[in-house]
Amino acid sequence: MSINLQGRHFLTLKDFSPLEIEYLLNLSRDLKTKKRIGHKGNLLQNKNIVLIFDKPSTRTRCAFECAAYDEGGNVTFLSNSHMGKKESIEDTAIVLGRMYDGIEFRGFSHSEAETLAKYAGVPVWNGLTDQYHPTQILADFLTIQEHVHKPLNKVKLVYVGDARNNMGNSLMIGAAKMGMHFVGLAPKALWADEKLVNEMRTLAKQTSAIIEYEEDIGKAVQGADVIYTDVWVSMGEEDQFATRIKQLKAYQVNRDMLNKTKNSDVIFLHCLPAFHDLNTEVGNQVHKEFGLTEMEVTDEVFRSRNSKVFDQAENRLHTIKAIMVATIGNL
Ligand code: CP
Ligand code: NVA
Repeated sequence: MSINLQGRHFLTLKDFSPLEIEYLLNLSRDLKTKKRIGHKGNLLQNKNIVLIFDKPSTRTRCAFECAAYDEGGNVTFLSNSHMGKKESIEDTAIVLGRMYDGIEFRGFSHSEAETLAKYAGVPVWNGLTDQYHPTQILADFLTIQEHVHKPLNKVKLVYVGDARNNMGNSLMIGAAKMGMHFVGLAPKALWADEKLVNEMRTLAKQTSAIIEYEEDIGKAVQGADVIYTDVWVSMGEEDQFATRIKQLKAYQVNRDMLNKTKNSDVIFLHCLPAFHDLNTEVGNQVHKEFGLTEMEVTDEVFRSRNSKVFDQAENRLHTIKAIMVATIGNL
């Protein structure tokens, strides 16, 4: 079956079939090999790409920029536009759509990404909203394929932490699509929205995925192939540290948790940035206020042989390139 994603938006993996996701992962692998052997491409030549960032970023911005450069595209970084302040998102979308071939958006409300997509007339790629972070999931799944020697539909992934944030939602959606065993390990108050979970459980009936939520660490992690965590406090929620620390302190990813998987080859993933030491301003503030030297993951696990976080970070480049090439590329 031939897959054609030209002209499509990339707002959430909900909009993509398992075959389309597989296609993007295969394309990412091909583009990674192409870069490794030193081939410069022209798949994005004559394409203008605008990157809107209403929140900070290291990986996502750099992945979009380098991916575009590798394939001959041009990028504009836009972080201080009139959008939503002096000009509506609708009007901004129309203007950008007249100049650019593709628009990346990182912001707060997911509805802003949807409005851009509705009016732009060119593909809009979600570079993270409060609700979803779909480009990250492709990098995560590519990393799993590289390091866990099983097909995705045999993989058990345990996501530990704030299971109702953009990462928790998006990993659960991706797992449901690809027939994986997903466990959200968190106190009940941080489980994903029931409506979304039920929607994905309905889909799981077709893909044979298992979608579970669990409070008990031992039960959740047994037999896991992947332990995944994210920051306890997402961008825009910085006033929540006290509550989240109370809720998630017991759910830190540490050696004891990895041992409980009974799988010495379990891999550790994190979308990054991570609070695993005191070498950050925020980490230091939290240390002063709450006495923690590490948060969601210990430094030992972060730097251990189980950790594949930097392969995962590199894969942001190859997978974001695949999304742009598939939706606007000169294929
Ligand atoms: N994982 C991720 O989205 O990283 P950045 O916030 O650095 O883009
Ligand atoms: N949940 C995190 C993800 C960062 C990549 C955040 O939104 O800040």
